[in-house]
Amino acid sequence: MSKDKLKQYVYIVQSSKEIISCKIGVTNDLERRLKEYNNMTGKSKGTVYQYLFTCEVSDMKQVENDIKAEFNNLREDKSKEMYFYNKNLFEKYVDFIKSHKAFVEEIFIKTDIQKETVKIVKRTNPTLKERELSPKDIMQQAQKVKNDEFYTQYEDVEKEVEMYDSEIWKDKVVFCNCDDAVGDTEDKNNNNTSAFALYFIKNFEKLGLKKLICTHFSGGIDLFSQGPKGYVYTYIFTKTKNEETREFPKGYNGSFDDPLSLKILNEEADIVCTNPPFSRARDYWDIVINSGKKFLIISNFTNVKNDAYIPYFMNKQVWAGYNEVYWYLTPKKQITKAAGHWYTNLPIKDRPKYRNIKLMPLKNIPEKIKNTIIKEYDDSKTLLVNNNYIPSDYKKPFAISVFPILSGILEKGYEIVQEKQYRPYINGKEVFARVLVQKI
Ligand SMILES: C[S@@+](CC[C@H](N)C(=O)[O-])C[C@H]1O[C@@H](n2cnc3c(N)ncnc32)[C@H](O)[C@@H]1O
Repeated sequence: MSKDKLKQYVYIVQSSKEIISCKIGVTNDLERRLKEYNNMTGKSKGTVYQYLFTCEVSDMKQVENDIKAEFNNLREDKSKEMYFYNKNLFEKYVDFIKSHKAFVEEIFIKTDIQKETVKIVKRTNPTLKERELSPKDIMQQAQKVKNDEFYTQYEDVEKEVEMYDSEIWKDKVVFCNCDDAVGDTEDKNNNNTSAFALYFIKNFEKLGLKKLICTHFSGGIDLFSQGPKGYVYTYIFTKTKNEETREFPKGYNGSFDDPLSLKILNEEADIVCTNPPFSRARDYWDIVINSGKKFLIISNFTNVKNDAYIPYFMNKQVWAGYNEVYWYLTPKKQITKAAGHWYTNLPIKDRPKYRNIKLMPLKNIPEKIKNTIIKEYDDSKTLLVNNNYIPSDYKKPFAISVFPILSGILEKGYEIVQEKQYRPYINGKEVFARVLVQKI
């Protein structure tokens, strides 16, 4: 067979031992490639590779390159095309591949290969998929058990803060108010300093900050081994002033709603920046938004379609920041996943995610792409559009998922028209909740 007649495939494969990552690769022979994975020398017994998704494409190199460009920040191992994996991310990868112009069709691998693979899988840790859990479920579990102990990683703070106009930070007092402890000041890289505190200390001069104030929370798990007493840490490092203090006011517990924390918020802070506890996000949002201060915070991905938060988005008191945050550290410094996103009321410039939005006349939006429904009407005749498609000429309200909102659709002439999430029914069956928007 001549080379140009070979079929081209893109696949997502995963090892049973590495369930937080997957490999996105290309091949001309899916069956042989899977065998190669499973026959790899040096692999310990019981490690089995399984395809999570396979499809035919017309130009595999192009798709591969575009995936690399699109998901560069989700690459775990750049030399091996390893990408972080969770259900949401997997759906994003598949959506991207399926909407690529070179996508031909999804391939469903013969069941005998799957069966054979499934038979020999010996997993001690089932995947989220197998447990039918999504990152959202994990976050909700976190809320239930009040497990707030997710550390933000330094790179995530850096990546987001550096997207904003540097003038924003000039002469500002930054307040990190949710257990943003600062450990040994001689060693700012140690494990006892929150990524927020560390980032602003390291970049104090570069950003031209006036002051950094961080508080350590005394309750819960002592994430940063800072002891059971709440404290207020302040840092100033300018040409004329160089000061670092740590105060343990009597009775102060370091909570963001402690009277002293509220005083700092209302009287001193210009920009609040932190990752608040998931279990208290609602109170936290109320306090910070109602303070009228600028803020840049991490919260649940799905806040956008949660009744408690929708009014804030509707009233333009908050909007999505630039990036999602999927990976955090546990108190034992192991990587863990949770579906977070940055939210802010700081100005956003040329949001790169605008390019995710597929704006086009309704008639051009496909009804289905392979097995994925793209546009449909629910039982009450409300239009539902998926996969970031947005009808440019549709005048009535229609329902969308969180993705177009996190990609900035509310800055592109659309507004939320219902304060509560929209719960569509299709043939009497409830499908996933969305947000009702309308062209302004
Ligand atoms: C998601 S973690 C983030 C910690 C740190 N800000 C970071 O980004 O790495 C949230 C932290 O808030 C702490 N926390 C819980 N309740 C709090 C409260 N009422 N006030 C301040 N912090 C609180 C939790 O113990 C936890 O350490």
